[in-house]
Amino acid sequence: MSGFFRFTPLANALPSTVPFVGPEAIERARGRKVRARIGANESGFGPAPSVLKAIRERAGETWMYSDPENFELREALALHHGVSRENIAIGGGIDGLLGEIVRLVVEPGTPVVTSQGGYPTFNYHVNGYGGRLVTTPYVNDREDLDGLLSAAKREDAPLVYLANPDNPMGSWWDAGSVLSFARALPDRSLLILDEAYCETAPAGSTPAIDALIGQPNVLRMRTFSKAYGLAGARVGYAIGTLGNVQAFDKIRNHFGMARISTVAALAALEDQAYLRDVVEKIVLARDRITAIARQNGLSPLPSATNFVAIDCGSDGVHARAIVDGLMEHGIFIRMPGVAPLNRCIRVSVGPDADLDLFEAVLPKVLKAVR
Ligand SMILES: Cc1ncc(COP(=O)(O)O)c(C=O)c1O
Repeated sequence: MSGFFRFTPLANALPSTVPFVGPEAIERARGRKVRARIGANESGFGPAPSVLKAIRERAGETWMYSDPENFELREALALHHGVSRENIAIGGGIDGLLGEIVRLVVEPGTPVVTSQGGYPTFNYHVNGYGGRLVTTPYVNDREDLDGLLSAAKREDAPLVYLANPDNPMGSWWDAGSVLSFARALPDRSLLILDEAYCETAPAGSTPAIDALIGQPNVLRMRTFSKAYGLAGARVGYAIGTLGNVQAFDKIRNHFGMARISTVAALAALEDQAYLRDVVEKIVLARDRITAIARQNGLSPLPSATNFVAIDCGSDGVHARAIVDGLMEHGIFIRMPGVAPLNRCIRVSVGPDADLDLFEAVLPKVLKAVR
C-alpha cells in the first residue's frame, strides 16, 4: 500500500524526482567518469589555501554543533559590508535561504513573479509551497525588468525574483537599473535580489549595499559557493532590513549550519587577496571559453558570471546532443532548460586542464552532431 494517504495533497501532487541531475548521478548512469567538471558553476580553482588550513586546524571541533545564532560569521559579514549584524541572516547556501523565504511568503495559490527559464531552484521551492509561478520571458537573453515589474504590479505579487548577474545566460543589468526596478516595485512585493555571481560581475553592476539597505522590500542573497570556491560547504547569507532578516529566525533550521562550514566561510571572507586572484583567473577562463566557442563557429554570450552561455545556433535538441556528446568524453557541462534559452550550452570556468580537454573535444562533438 502506498504511503500517499499520510502526506498533504500538495506533497502528493509534487513529482518525487530529483530535479537537478548532478555529475555524480550522470557518472553512475553512464558508467563514465567526469574528467572535466565544468557544468555546475562551481569554482574548480578551489578555496583559498588559508581556508583549507583553517578547515584542517578546526576539523576536530566537528563534534560540536554550530552556534545557532551564527554570531561570528554574521559579525564578520556585517563588518565586511558596513551594516549591522541584525541585517544578516545565514543559511545553507542561497538555495536554503530561498526555501526559507518562500516558506515565509508563499501559501497555496500565491502569485510569484520570475523570469521564464530563470534560476530553477527558486521555482522548485515555489512549487513546493504551492505558489503560482508567473513568468516573463527573457528579452535579448536578459531578464526583462519592465516585464517583471508589470507582472508584479498586475498580480500584486508578494514575491519577485531577479538574479543579477543571471543564471543560466550570464547576463546582467547595471546597478542603476536594478535600483530603479527595486524602487518601482509595489510596496507589497518583496524582491529577492540573487547576487550569487556579484564577485565576478563588472564594476557598476551591483548596487552599493547602503543603496538598498533601507529598502524594506528587498532581500539580497550572497553565497560562498561561487568565487569563494566553497559550494560543498553550503554557506549563503541574506542582507536586508531588520524585519525581513529576523523573520528567518521564526522558521530556519537553527542547527542547520555545519560548524566546519562556518569556519571555512569566515576564513574565506578574511582572505580577500585570494578572492581577487581567483576572480582574475575566472575572467581569463571566461575569455578562453569565449575564444574556444568562436574558434568552433559558435556564438558565446557576454558573461558576468563564472560560466559562459554559448549559442549553438539551433534548438534545444541540438544543444542537448552537444551536452551529451561532451559527456561521452567525460566533460560535464549543462544547458538552459527552456526555449529559446535552450539553444545554448552553458560552460563553467575551470582550471587550464579542464578547458584544454574542452578545447580538444568540442570540435569532434560538433562534427558528430552536425
Ligand atoms: C543564481 C543562483 N543563485 C543561487 C545559486 C546557488 O547558490 P548556493 O550554492 O549558495 O545555494 C546558484 C548556483 O548555481 C545560482 O546560479
